[in-house]
Amino acid sequence: MFRRLPDDERDRVVLTFEDERIEARRGDTLAAALLAHGRMVTRETAGGGRGPFCMMGVCFECLVDVHGRGGGRGLQACMIEVCDGMKAGRHRTQSSDEPEGAA
Ligand code: FES
Repeated sequence: MFRRLPDDERDRVVLTFEDERIEARRGDTLAAALLAHGRMVTRETAGGGRGPFCMMGVCFECLVDVHGRGGGRGLQACMIEVCDGMKAGRHRTQSSDEPEGAA
């Protein structure tokens, strides 16, 4: 479904998501890096897994937990630039604490 342009020669960075090693390109958003790696689900809700949809900070479907950032409230993966050594994982919410605007 998602694939990179063939002439993308940007530097590589390595991050971990749910303890899986993921190679990304410098300047990628975390959402783009995860989708390019085949990781479609970034957060868990009572209704099941959700993943990036709008890629522009509107839908809140891409919430993730990033080690050392956000205080556990979930950050939008489509708004975060990857960096070498980043550690992230799925954000888990109950239906009662869904972010406003999330469907
Ligand atoms: S993909 Fe919609 S807010 Fe990130």
